[in-house]
Amino acid sequence: MALLNWSSEFSVGIEIIDKQHMILVRAINLLAMAVERNGSQELMSEIFHTLVDYTNTHFAYEEELFDYYGYPQTDKHKQEHKALLEKVLAFKRQWESGQADLGPEVLKFLVDWLRHHILGSDKKYTGFLVEAMQQAHA
Ligand SMILES: [Fe+2]
Ligand SMILES: [Fe+2]
Repeated sequence: MALLNWSSEFSVGIEIIDKQHMILVRAINLLAMAVERNGSQELMSEIFHTLVDYTNTHFAYEEELFDYYGYPQTDKHKQEHKALLEKVLAFKRQWESGQADLGPEVLKFLVDWLRHHILGSDKKYTGFLVEAMQQAHA
C-alpha cells in the first residue's frame, strides 16, 4: 500500500521538479512496502540510501535554481533543506547502529517531512521561479 499518493496539489508548476518530487514519493512508498513485508535489512538499507542520496540531488537542484535566478528566500530554504537532511541522516545512523526501529512512526515522519516541505516551502517558489524562467526564455 502506498503511504503517500501524488496529486496535483503537490505540483510546484515546474515539470522537472514535480518529477523529482514524484521519485521521492516513490522511494518513501518503496520503503513502506519493504517494512510492511518484513524486507531484509539489506533491502531497506538500499532503499533508504537511495532516498537520502536522491534527496541530496533534488535539494541541490532546487538550490541551483534559487542561486541562478536570485530567489529572495534562498537562505531560508537552504537552511530548511539542511535541517531536513540532517534529521533523516541522524535517524539513518540510529537505525544502522540498531538504536532505532524502522516502523510506522518513522514512515510517518518521512511522509510528513516530504509533504510539509513541498506544500509549505517548495510551493512558495512557484510564482517567482516560473516567472523568472519564462522571462529568461522569452
Ligand atoms: Fe523539493
Ligand atoms: Fe525544497
